Amino acid sequence: MSLTAAFDKLFVAFIQSVLAICAGLCYTVSKSEEWGTGTVNRGVFIVFEGIDGAGKTTQAELLRNRLTESGRRVHMTAEPTDMPTGVALRRVLSGKVKKSESEAALMFVQDRVAHNLAPENGIEACLAKGIDVICDRYYYSTMAYQGSSVDYGWVRSMNLDCPDIRKPDLCIFLDLTPEQSLGRIAAGRQSVEIYENRETLSRVRQAFLGVLNDLEGRERIVIVDAHRDIGAIHADIVKAVEDILT
Ligand code: TYD
Repeated sequence: MSLTAAFDKLFVAFIQSVLAICAGLCYTVSKSEEWGTGTVNRGVFIVFEGIDGAGKTTQAELLRNRLTESGRRVHMTAEPTDMPTGVALRRVLSGKVKKSESEAALMFVQDRVAHNLAPENGIEACLAKGIDVICDRYYYSTMAYQGSSVDYGWVRSMNLDCPDIRKPDLCIFLDLTPEQSLGRIAAGRQSVEIYENRETLSRVRQAFLGVLNDLEGRERIVIVDAHRDIGAIHADIVKAVEDILT
């Protein structure tokens, strides 16, 4: 082979290598852009939990306003849902329809799966469209309420191991003692009712704290002292949400 022919071969090999490297780079860039776009545009999923009178509704509304003012789109939702699965649950909760505790646990899971998968305003659909979802109650409630009546491990596994039940990006637990809660909601009631409520509220709060303790390290959970003025509670919530958005 002449020196020129050898040089030509080397030159062609060099050009081919350069082209291959460029192609590789382009592929990497387009892959990361694709990943980046999907991640950046996805909405965040925030859940509010707490015992009666903790102020979930008020604080969820304030957070919605704050997020929309900053240009984000927000979908407010709740469990039990307004879908047929949730309507059936409300009949059970009101005592109109009798179901066992394990049947109720299954119904909450069924309602949650439907809530996640609903094509129109379901949790997954909204998040995928870049809409933030704020949900009043989620699986923490099932684990606290139903998990203390039927086998906790079973209730936990049905919720946490179900591929169609999304893990929230943040759970905000508005914490009140039963006494503080009653101070807000029980003014004017009979003492017997107050006693019964205190027992129930105390049991539910302990169950919630047990659930949050169980999920520590696995989930992002913020416990907010809800026995303060609305503005101070809101400020803590905004801080927690900013932490997941940055
Ligand atoms: P609701 O009228 O929505 O009240 P709240 O404003 O307190 O959310 O009632 C929901 C009830 O359902 C509430 O008592 C808690 C109960 N619940 C469960 O027992 N398990 C669950 O998984 C959920 C989501 C709610």
